[in-house]
Amino acid sequence: MSSFRTISPTDTTSAVFHSYLLGVVAPRPIAFASTVDSQGKVNLSPFSFFNVFGSNPPILIFSPSRRVRDNTIKHTLENVQEVKEVVINIVNYAMVQQMSLASCEYEKGVNEFIKAGFSEEPSILVKPPRVKEAPAAFECRVNQIIATGTEGGAGNLVICEILLAHIQEDIINAKNQIDPQKLDAVARMGNDWYCRAYGDAIFSVPKPNQKKGIGFDNIPAQIRYSTVLTGNDLGMLGNIEALPTKEEISEFTSQSAIQEIVTNKHNSLAVKEALHQIAKAYLLEGKVKEAWLTLLQEGK
Ligand SMILES: Cc1cc2nc3c(=O)[nH]c(=O)nc-3n(C[C@H](O)[C@H](O)[C@H](O)COP(=O)(O)O)c2cc1C
Repeated sequence: MSSFRTISPTDTTSAVFHSYLLGVVAPRPIAFASTVDSQGKVNLSPFSFFNVFGSNPPILIFSPSRRVRDNTIKHTLENVQEVKEVVINIVNYAMVQQMSLASCEYEKGVNEFIKAGFSEEPSILVKPPRVKEAPAAFECRVNQIIATGTEGGAGNLVICEILLAHIQEDIINAKNQIDPQKLDAVARMGNDWYCRAYGDAIFSVPKPNQKKGIGFDNIPAQIRYSTVLTGNDLGMLGNIEALPTKEEISEFTSQSAIQEIVTNKHNSLAVKEALHQIAKAYLLEGKVKEAWLTLLQEGK
């Protein structure tokens, strides 16, 4: 069993708490924000305090925080206070090193498109340009800026309403969905760590939506307290809408090699273990019904 470190933010330096927070609230997507100041000077900086918070109206929020180090504020915050517009560009793996370069603390007025080697593509509805290399970009109006404090480390929530989206055609699949493998997104973790959503790192979990799973509490105890099945296995089992019927269970027995295992009445523990292992293999293939039919052969 794990032991826990219990930490109060008031008993810890903000630098340490900041580091723990950013380490565990991870991975975080990255808003690569392009803004302009009142003189039209362009700025481009990454922010991983970022997410989508609604789709109608479509809302993105990111936070240029006060520096923990010296409580100074970021040029991006000053810019959105001066000109209430921003383009939020999405960062993929091909852009990650240049994006990191753009996060250097250059003097105000320095254009990080130039410093980091990105191409400025004029926006249609807002003044800040978008990053041509980005797989997606959102032209936004800044509706509100909410400061969450005045000390170093405090956030400034920049609430952005999307006016126009630009999405690279080749990341949209035949079903008109975004193909995550083609997006090849990167996200920020603690310290210098990043992660790449690509290859085996991407997997699917069918979402229940309107379906209502039976829940853990309706999983029979001999299955729920299995020494073979994990929390993920039980989560899949609990997501079924109804247990198979007696007829389905009997039919499954006659069809499968399971018959042989179940007839080994001398060793009920071995039967249980064997059935749970088979069920686990079905779950690995996403065959939840078959897993249930296997598990319910015990004590039938
Ligand atoms: C991937 C990444 C994510 C970052 N996320 C944030 C963030 O969410 N909030 C923040 O204040 N700074 C964040 N930073 C640091 C800013 O990008 C950095 O302070 C930058 O110099 C700010 O630029 P500006 O002063 O031109 O706005 C991040 C840096 C990187 C590389």
